[in-house]
Formats: sequence, structure tokens, C-alpha cells
Amino acid sequence: MEYKALITSEENKNFVNSIGTKKISDLPDNDTLIKVKYSSLNFKDALSASGNKGVTRNYPHTPGIDAAGIIEKTSGSKFKSGDEVIVTGYDMGMNTNGGFGEYIKVPQEWIVKKPENITLSESMAFGTAGLTAGLCLRKLLAHGLKPDDGDVFVSGVTGGVGIISLMLFKKLGFSISAITGKLDQEEFLKSLGANQVIDRNTLDLDLISPLQKPIYSGGIDAVGGKILSNLICSTSQRAAIACCGMVGGLSLDTSIFPFILRGLSLFGIDSAESLIDVKEEIWSNFSSNWKLENIDENIKDISLNELPSEIDKILRGEQIGRVRIAYDW
Ligand SMILES: NC(=O)c1ccc[n+]([C@@H]2O[C@H](COP(=O)([O-])OP(=O)(O)OC[C@H]3O[C@@H](n4cnc5c(N)ncnc54)[C@H](OP(=O)(O)O)[C@@H]3O)[C@@H](O)[C@H]2O)c1
Repeated sequence: MEYKALITSEENKNFVNSIGTKKISDLPDNDTLIKVKYSSLNFKDALSASGNKGVTRNYPHTPGIDAAGIIEKTSGSKFKSGDEVIVTGYDMGMNTNGGFGEYIKVPQEWIVKKPENITLSESMAFGTAGLTAGLCLRKLLAHGLKPDDGDVFVSGVTGGVGIISLMLFKKLGFSISAITGKLDQEEFLKSLGANQVIDRNTLDLDLISPLQKPIYSGGIDAVGGKILSNLICSTSQRAAIACCGMVGGLSLDTSIFPFILRGLSLFGIDSAESLIDVKEEIWSNFSSNWKLENIDENIKDISLNELPSEIDKILRGEQIGRVRIAYDW
């Protein structure tokens, strides 16, 4: 039996994305076959689809680190045919065929049963970007961060992780500084709950001083590089930052002072390899106390055929919010 998928192929050292057909019998030998109803686009998918060998070693390949769908067949004991499920991360979309195809075959240990109060479609409005925002928030709350402690920041705020971080902070009553390179989105960001919008160019500088004015009680950083380096130095006493991204650079130029003179904590987040029970906890929160009633409002819904151009857009840093892929069944 054949199914439709995005296929990334290597041609004369160039990477080309096209929509083609694959065989279910060629899927990896894992225990659970899932009919994918929705997927979503993340920065990591764009890296895989453009030949980044740190993400995907062998081509042709079908990327897609997110999938939500229905179990078609399983030889495992954890789920049964017909269960509605969510799969994010682990090796899916990296070196295991991913959610940019109508079928995936994965180990049952990678699967979360969809909670009652959220639809498959809503789950892919969150996707890995949302899960990552949720994991960042979980760390900060466990650290003890509260709205009364003062302003928090979100960097890379118009991106997938950023926008959901902003919405979650708002839901929990925080006052938020939204750091962006897209100042024309100020009104939109304020409509989602940003209290102020800050031009990222004012932070994208060589380290200004190891201890700057203490402004933030914490924040979520999806950018890294110089922006994170400067934010670290602008935190107040006992602040906490969760960092997860690297669109602004891989290195960190900072000083020990914010850590030993202000007691700053810096948490690193890796959503892909998070323990499955932690993923279950975040999905459960998204369906209850962290439910975002407006999660569907700022989603761009596309078909598989439209994916190649959206991949180019996310690589250029031009994407605003989330892109969800719906399969026509
Ligand atoms: N650790 C994890 O588990 C995990 C999980 C998911 C994603 N990530 C990482 O988190 C980052 C964001 O992912 P995403 O899916 O939200 O990506 P995205 O949708 O492409 O958003 C990235 C945002 O960063 C900002 N940006 C883009 N280029 C930049 C640059 N050169 N310098 C500074 N800011 C820039 C832009 O927002 P503004 O214009 O508003 O500034 C952009 O919208 C990526 O590095 C991704 O790999 C990590």
C-alpha cells in the first residue's frame, strides 16, 4: 500500500523537497502504525529538509518531528487500534520517517495518548514548539517563579516557541516583555498579552556589561547567542531563564557575576528526548489548567503540497506563529 509524503532528496549536493509516494512496507520495523491526521512545522524540520546532517544523516528522507493521528495497527500492549495519539520528537523526523507523510511507524514508548479535552488538530497547533514552551514554563514554575516577582521576557517571540510561551505566560498572569526583530508585529503581540515590545537589535550586541540594570525576574529564550548573553546580565535577584533555541547563535558570551552575585539559574530544555511521562504531563496541562482557548486563532493551515515554500520561509526567519499541516482524510 502506498501513501503520500514530502521527500527530501540529495541531488548533486543540493537538497530538494518534493511530494511523492512511499510504501507502508518500507516504513521502519517499529511496533505501531499511525495514520497521521495533522503535523506541524518546526525550525528543526526545516534543518532536516535542507540537508543539515546534524539532524538527518541519510537521504532521501521524510522530515516531521510532530504527528497527531489514529493508531491503525499495533503489536504493542500500551495502545489499541483507533486510539487518538500524539507523537513528538525522539528520533521521529530525524532518522526515522516523520509526520510529513500520511503514515508513521514508531515504538509505542514514543506515543502519548491524546487527553480528553484537546483535539488532534489543536494538539498540532502546539506541536513541538508548544511542548517546548510548556517544558520551559514547567522548569521556571518549579524554580518558584511567580507573576509577583516582576517582568519576564520571551525572545524570538513571533516564532513558534516564542508565541506559545507568550500566550502561556499571559494565561498564568505574568507581565511580559516581548523581544522581536519584527516591530511591525507590535499590535499583534500586544493583542496576545505582551505588556511591552522590545526591538531585538537593542540586545543583539557584544556583551555590554556583566551586570546591567536588573529588569527581568526570568524568561524564555528561543534565540541564544548575543541576545541571551545580554539578557542573562539584565536579570534580578534569584531570577531563572529557560533557554531552548539557537537561531541567534550557538555561543554564549557572559560572566559569572549574574550567577554568583544575583543567584541566577539558567535551565537548558531539550524537548525531543524529554521523558514520556513529562511529555504526558505537559499535554495534560494543555488540556486543562494551561488550556489556551485562542490556540487555533493564529495558525496557518496548509496542505502537504504547500509545505516546501513554508520550509523556505522558516529558514529565512520570516515565519510568524505556527504552521499546521492537515491531511485530507
Ligand atoms: N531545545 C528544544 O527542545 C527545542 C524545541 C523546539 C525548538 N527549538 C529551537 O528554538 C528555536 C526557535 O524555534 P521555533 O520553532 O520557534 O522557530 P521559528 O518559528 O523559526 O522562530 C524563530 C524566531 O526567532 C527569531 N529569529 C529568527 N532569526 C533570528 C536571528 N538571526 N537572530 C535572532 N532572532 C531570530 C524570529 O522571531 P522575532 O523576529 O520575533 O525575533 C523567529 O520568528 C530554534 O533554534 C529551534 O531549533 C528547540
